[in-house]
Amino acid sequence: MFTASPLSGSKAEQYQQLIAQCQALLHGERHRVANAANLSALLFNHLPDVNWLGFYFLEQGELIVGPFQGLPACVRIALGKGVCGTAAQSRETQLVADVHAFPGHIACDSASQSEIVVPLIKDGALIGVLDVDSPVLNRFDDTDKAAFETIAALFCAGSD
Ligand code: SME
Repeated sequence: MFTASPLSGSKAEQYQQLIAQCQALLHGERHRVANAANLSALLFNHLPDVNWLGFYFLEQGELIVGPFQGLPACVRIALGKGVCGTAAQSRETQLVADVHAFPGHIACDSASQSEIVVPLIKDGALIGVLDVDSPVLNRFDDTDKAAFETIAALFCAGSD
């Protein structure tokens, strides 16, 4: 049985602990939706100043919302549209300090001010994105980016 533990230390140290908890959560289970659901819950409940965190999966050429924590979200996002569609199309993490300055940003929760979206690449193929929103401007930095990219890679490697 997995038990979440409180995090301590510097931001980088807290991410090390959180990543270890992600690995423990993924251990022995490869179901994609189940792993996405549990990772969303773990991350959302540990990270400060986050109002939406979850997954979109690529299905028939568009992104469809998957497991998440937060307010109900837009269900379908076309590749190239919004922050999510841009991350998916470019296959590069989008770190957006101010969503209102991002052309084409899709506002699902009006509280969101900054956002980071990491593409999910499994065996060379795009399978979706991990999306994290914050009600605080400029919430995410390179430490967050590196941690979410590590978590995304763990998810892709550990899920079918
Ligand atoms: N803001 C995203 C849409 C998804 S919600 O944030 C959950 C975007 O612009 O793609």
